[in-house]
Amino acid sequence: MNDRITLRRLDDMHCHFRAGSLLKEVLPFTAQYAGRGIAMPNTRPRAILTGKDVVWYQDEIRRALDEMPHRHSFEPLMTIEIRDNTTPQMIAEAYHAGAVAGKVYPLGVTTNSDEGLRNFESESIAETFRAMRDVGMLLLIHGELDRERTLVTKREEVFLPTLLMLAEKFPNMKIVLEHVSTRVAVESVRQLGQNVAATITAHHLCLTLNDVVGYGIQPHHGCMPMPKDFDDRDTLIVAATSGEPKFFLGSDTAPHPREKKECAKGACGVYTAPVLPQVLAEVFEKTGKLDRLEDFSSRFGAEFYGLPLNDGSISLIKSEWVVTEQIGGVVPFRAGAKLQWQLS
Ligand code: DOR
Ligand code: ZN
Repeated sequence: MNDRITLRRLDDMHCHFRAGSLLKEVLPFTAQYAGRGIAMPNTRPRAILTGKDVVWYQDEIRRALDEMPHRHSFEPLMTIEIRDNTTPQMIAEAYHAGAVAGKVYPLGVTTNSDEGLRNFESESIAETFRAMRDVGMLLLIHGELDRERTLVTKREEVFLPTLLMLAEKFPNMKIVLEHVSTRVAVESVRQLGQNVAATITAHHLCLTLNDVVGYGIQPHHGCMPMPKDFDDRDTLIVAATSGEPKFFLGSDTAPHPREKKECAKGACGVYTAPVLPQVLAEVFEKTGKLDRLEDFSSRFGAEFYGLPLNDGSISLIKSEWVVTEQIGGVVPFRAGAKLQWQLS
């Protein structure tokens, strides 16, 4: 039996680092084990929309890294939010400021998407996407649509024709379907060209809808896209552990203060950063595929983004521990539960 595993430092291709005091609270976890993290742009009060915003947010993150007592080599990868009014000029400026990708939140589907994209078919958004393609920025998509008479559990499936349309229209743009949560979406990504990949979160590998609403409402499991059926979760586990380079880690670690989760209209997001490699090791071990974890967490993402692999490594040891109930006012994934692997 393997009691210790060593992994190349991770690439977490989907992180909500937030801003202000929450940023300082959550960033050290990711920086501890990841060499890079994609910094999602749905921050508030200042969203990341322009080159100036990118510079500001990158500085915020760098300052938070500088304040950390233990210095790790960690590089934030910057993004901007693509809205209906994002122009090719804004893309050029964001790219020069260091943005590697643009993130699309369709209107109203998740946290801070109140000004999300309304129209995927407009000529102006096509021009914006062409500008991204031409400079080599990736298009990251929250793949859900909020349509009338569409249940929250069907929003990802309803988005898939839009993904197909984009993949066909922009065969030379790299597209990432973020936090894929259904069997049909995994199958679509497999069938599309090499320009399309998907991230998978640790919590979607663990949860079904039952864990959100099936045994009392569990607000700390509430996220978008909602965890789905057993068959969907099984498909995600197979995809993550399959060694297929189209599927890589993007944790969507999404911290919200406890009182914003435990209330009448709780915020969506699961805070996995404090337990990410530990939970992944458990999932991969359970399927007998621990040897595939490093490709999923530290290789395929870098390759898809066209980045060199990280230097340095982390080790996990098999030793039971109990996850803290609350960290800095935020309840982490698996709070109060036993985990089998620890970071050494
Ligand atoms: O659950 C989620 N939380 N899904 C998202 O897409 C956004 C995230 C957040 O920012 O809290
Ligand atoms: Zn997210």
